[in-house]
Amino acid sequence: MKVIDLRSDTVTLPTKEMMDAIARAGLGDDVTGNDPTVNALQEKAAMMFGKESSLLVTSGTQGNLVSVMAHCRPGDEVIMESEAHMYYYEVGNISAIAGVIPRLIKGDHGTFTGQQVQDAARGDDLHFPESRLLEIENTHNRAGGTCWTPAQVAEVAKAAHDLGMKVHIDGARIFNACVALDVDVKAYARHVDSIQFCLSKGLSCPVGSMVVGDADFIEVCRKKRKMVGGGMRQAGIIAAPGIVALDSMITRLKEDHDNARRLAAALEAIDGIKLDMSTVQTNIVVTDVSGTGMNAEEFMAEAKKNGLLLSDFGPYQVRLVTHRGITAEDVDCAVSIIEDKVLRCKGGACKI
Ligand SMILES: Cc1ncc(COP(=O)(O)O)c(C=O)c1O
Repeated sequence: MKVIDLRSDTVTLPTKEMMDAIARAGLGDDVTGNDPTVNALQEKAAMMFGKESSLLVTSGTQGNLVSVMAHCRPGDEVIMESEAHMYYYEVGNISAIAGVIPRLIKGDHGTFTGQQVQDAARGDDLHFPESRLLEIENTHNRAGGTCWTPAQVAEVAKAAHDLGMKVHIDGARIFNACVALDVDVKAYARHVDSIQFCLSKGLSCPVGSMVVGDADFIEVCRKKRKMVGGGMRQAGIIAAPGIVALDSMITRLKEDHDNARRLAAALEAIDGIKLDMSTVQTNIVVTDVSGTGMNAEEFMAEAKKNGLLLSDFGPYQVRLVTHRGITAEDVDCAVSIIEDKVLRCKGGACKI
């Protein structure tokens, strides 16, 4: 049985060009700054974002963590959206390791306003932590892959900077936003102090993320990365596919967005499945399956029996993500599996 894997864009495998680049990569010890391929990737990323410097890290989670550690001191507060990945899915690391506390803003499709930042920021009071950092997630995963516009980022970043805060973007999928809105990544980067982006998601690399920012900040991140065990030796084998990704994998993301819209439009027409088409801006589709008589776990288990892999996003929420391994035919096949097989269980008649 063919398996259609819509769990995440992290399931993408490296391309042949990436594997060839790994085999050819010049290598050295990156902990001492001597891996030529890592250095080339870091220079390329910094240049693309219009920043002074960048750093290869093991994952998006590590990139966000070292950025928070570099911007903040223990006891500080980081303002972020209430369903931010950093709050929801990063094991509480910013509190456990960086010693900061999150302060949450209720967003609208993952975004919020400068006024909300002003309202959330702490005043000058003996009792309060310092509001040190504002974090923005673009695209916003739990909101359904929604995009911030550069103007929205500019507005909240100005509010934060005026209050003496730094601004970090969790841009795990920032290139999806760039492709969806047809903007250069510099249009975001120019307003903020740091950005983390993932190589290992829609860009199809096997491992790795990057942090970009000014040179002093990146040097602090380098030390924090070492502290959390992210100093890697011949990391050129990770950097080599990253260079291929930045050169050739970005514009391709449009196919994933087209497939996500095709998928969402078909799912929306199915009785019992609810979704908000306005959130389908990139490669993520979040559905509410409560009307099918199944919860997310039951729906996913039934899909899996029929070769369709999905991910759980809440008790009745199921997430579907398009990526380089998924064609328009796979999308149509996934919709047929849901209509013809999974919904046989409508009303819970064949509960697993
Ligand atoms: C918005 C966002 N930020 C950060 C991450 C963390 O990336 P990683 O899985 O590489 O740690 C993810 C992963 O899905 C994400 O969606």
